[in-house]
Amino acid sequence: MDNIGEILIDEETLIKRVKELGAEITEDYRGKNLILIGILKGAVIFMSDLSKEIKLPLAMDFMAVSSYGASTHSSGVVRILKDLDAEIEGKDVLIVEDIVDTGLTLHYLQSNLLSRKPNSLKICCCLDKPSRRKVPVDIDYVGFEIPDEYVVGYGLDYNERYRNLPYISILNPDIYKK
Ligand code: IMP
Ligand code: MG
Repeated sequence: MDNIGEILIDEETLIKRVKELGAEITEDYRGKNLILIGILKGAVIFMSDLSKEIKLPLAMDFMAVSSYGASTHSSGVVRILKDLDAEIEGKDVLIVEDIVDTGLTLHYLQSNLLSRKPNSLKICCCLDKPSRRKVPVDIDYVGFEIPDEYVVGYGLDYNERYRNLPYISILNPDIYKK
C-alpha cells in the first residue's frame, strides 16, 4: 500500500454519512416507484451500503460507461459499455455514482436517461469535486465535497486497484504525476 497517502474520509465517517443519506432518501421516496441505477464499477460499494439504509421497496439496475481508462485524466468521451436491463419509463430513478469530477459522465447520463421518460430523475453521489467541473450538473444528494485530489477506496480505483479499501484515501501523486 505504498501508493496510498493520507486518509481523507475514514470508515466511521463514511458509514455515518451513508446512513444520513439513506434516511433522507427514505423520506423523499415514500410511496414512489424507486429504482437505484448504479454506475459500474465505482458505485458498487457505495450503492450496496446506501441501499441497506433506504427503508423502502426498491429495484436496482446498473450501467457501465467508459470514463478514464487507465489514466487519471478524463477523455471527455462517454460511451455506454453496459445498458440497463429494464425500462425506466414511469419510474422514479435515482442515479448512484461514486464521484462527480468534470461532470461529463453524469451530464451525458442525465440526458440519455431522461429521453427514456422516467417519472423523476435524481442524482446521488458519494463524492463531489466541484473545482474540476467542466459542465454543470445538479446533484440532489452529495456525501462529501472533496478538494482536487485523486482519491481511491470505497469503490474508487486507480488501474482497478484499491476499490476494496473501506475508507477514502488520497493516491500518492508520485505514481501518476511524472
Ligand atoms: P467525470 O465524468 O469527470 O465526472 O468522471 C466521473 C468518473 O471518473 C467517476 O465515476 C470515476 O469513475 C472517475 N473519477 C473521477 N475522479 C476520480 C478520483 O479521484 N478517483 C477515482 N476515480 C475518479
Ligand atoms: Mg464511475
